[in-house]
Amino acid sequence: MTGNEELLELAVAIATDAGRLAAARREVGVEVAASKSSLEDVVTFADRETEALIRSRLADARPDDGFLGEESGTGSGRSGLTWVVDPIDGTVNYLYGIPHYAVSIAVVEGEPDPATWTALAGVVFNPASGELFTATRGGGAHLAGRRLTVAPPVDLSQALVGTGFGYQAAKRERQAAVVQRLIGRIRDIRRFGTASLDLCSVASGRLNAYYESGLAPWDHAAGGLVAAEAGALVTGGDGRPASSDLIISAHPEVAKTLESVLREVTN
Ligand code: IPD
Repeated sequence: MTGNEELLELAVAIATDAGRLAAARREVGVEVAASKSSLEDVVTFADRETEALIRSRLADARPDDGFLGEESGTGSGRSGLTWVVDPIDGTVNYLYGIPHYAVSIAVVEGEPDPATWTALAGVVFNPASGELFTATRGGGAHLAGRRLTVAPPVDLSQALVGTGFGYQAAKRERQAAVVQRLIGRIRDIRRFGTASLDLCSVASGRLNAYYESGLAPWDHAAGGLVAAEAGALVTGGDGRPASSDLIISAHPEVAKTLESVLREVTN
């Protein structure tokens, strides 16, 4: 087993347990613990509890690694590796009982910054569906043992495109204006509400493309690796890495066309 596969094995074991915990809490009923950037941007007690489980399991198994989590922040390490964690991506789906949310765990090398990091392994687990997406750098992307390949290129007019919206009302309005100008030029839009799973949908061919602006590193660390290892281009546009400014993911030919159309409809 390579080093990256060992890291993945650990990530899968922890994500599976974390997902089961989140699903069990969902069964009992979910309570909002606090609001973050806006009233719509909530954290549940289950988000916090799930992240605490992930963080303590990682600290036990990999005490020298750093940590970057959505709910409990950063912890620096000495090994040069950092675990980037969203305990429940798709929190609003989770809150409403929509069975489309995920535990997302990636391990990256270098500074825990998407501009420079190298993702080594990642897992995205939807406990409500049981789907577990995995990837290792150079080792491909998989869903339930099946190797994933991005959908073949299509004309943008035939592309099913996923996107998402931020929590700030003004930002959502700007994003909706972009969708309004884009939607007539593609097959249709999907807004599923969980960025990590959107990226896995590109990997498995359920979406031709996905783009969003405003993502946090933990939203795309694992899913971005799954998409890239399935053959997608994952880019921030203009040859830059994906960032909070922009992420586009699709078959490389579709990604390039989408990037130029997005530039047109954004300005
Ligand atoms: C959100 C989801 C959503 C995306 C938002 C993210 P959270 O993450 O991934 O799909 O559109 O930009 O913030 O808050 O549910 O962890």
